[in-house]
Amino acid sequence: MAKIFSVASGKGGVGKSTVCCHLARSMAQHGEKTLIIEMGCGFRGLDVFLNIDQIVYDFGDVVEKRCDVFDAIQNVKDCELLDLLPASVDFEKEFEDTDYNYIFDILHEEYDNIILDLPLRYDVLYSIKDFIDACLIVVTPDPVCVRNASMCVNFIHNEFEKDIDMKLIVNKISKKAFRRGFIDNIDSIIDETQLQFLGGLPQSESIILANCNGSALKKRSLEYRIFDAIYERLIGNSVKVLI
Ligand SMILES: Nc1ncnc2c1ncn2[C@@H]1O[C@H](COP(=O)(O)OP(=O)(O)OP(=O)(O)O)[C@@H](O)[C@H]1O
Ligand SMILES: [Mg+2]
Repeated sequence: MAKIFSVASGKGGVGKSTVCCHLARSMAQHGEKTLIIEMGCGFRGLDVFLNIDQIVYDFGDVVEKRCDVFDAIQNVKDCELLDLLPASVDFEKEFEDTDYNYIFDILHEEYDNIILDLPLRYDVLYSIKDFIDACLIVVTPDPVCVRNASMCVNFIHNEFEKDIDMKLIVNKISKKAFRRGFIDNIDSIIDETQLQFLGGLPQSESIILANCNGSALKKRSLEYRIFDAIYERLIGNSVKVLI
């Protein structure tokens, strides 16, 4: 039975897809068969981040029964245990709860982990709330992003009938901005969101390069080790938080 993790945020462009991609690579490195499902409609990005050349079928085609789910799933060339189910490019499409049920039912037995790259729509998170083991909230340290994330956390606590296990990842940390006092420190971000902190990633050229080339982060690089520590903490192992 797969563990299902969703990745969400209170603001666009903060690094949800980046976290999905490199966290999934960490899981696969640990020998766990992992699938990323790109849940949005309209825009795609993970095919580029994972260097997948050609997409024939996508999430929408599976739901519309134009293909089998395994026809739409693509393997990542340089990572045998990692697969992607790409997003539908139909901007008009709205999926029903039953569509998610249908796909998760088939895939649950096939993978150790399924990571859901969520769009900025809380109705999608609501639709899948009964399936997920945890929701990772990605924030950047700027005050608007932190405030929006904390509003989302409150909204989920108050409006969802189910308790969702939410955890925090801080991305695009600029040490210079911290030093100069432009942005708050990590402790105050944790205080404001009230979430368990999994790890923090720097603003990093290696991450930009890996995303542009669709490649993995270099083994033993700081960024690689941070994703590995995030993975360990996510599965409950007590490793030091890396920032
Ligand atoms: N730690 C980082 N350092 C530098 N650049 C980063 C970092 N994380 C992500 N990026 C870059 O920021 C941009 C946005 O990242 P990404 O697409 O992962 O965000 P997103 O939250 O998925 O966006 P959207 O809301 O549009 O889905 C990308 O160009 C990505 O390469
Ligand atoms: Mg994205």
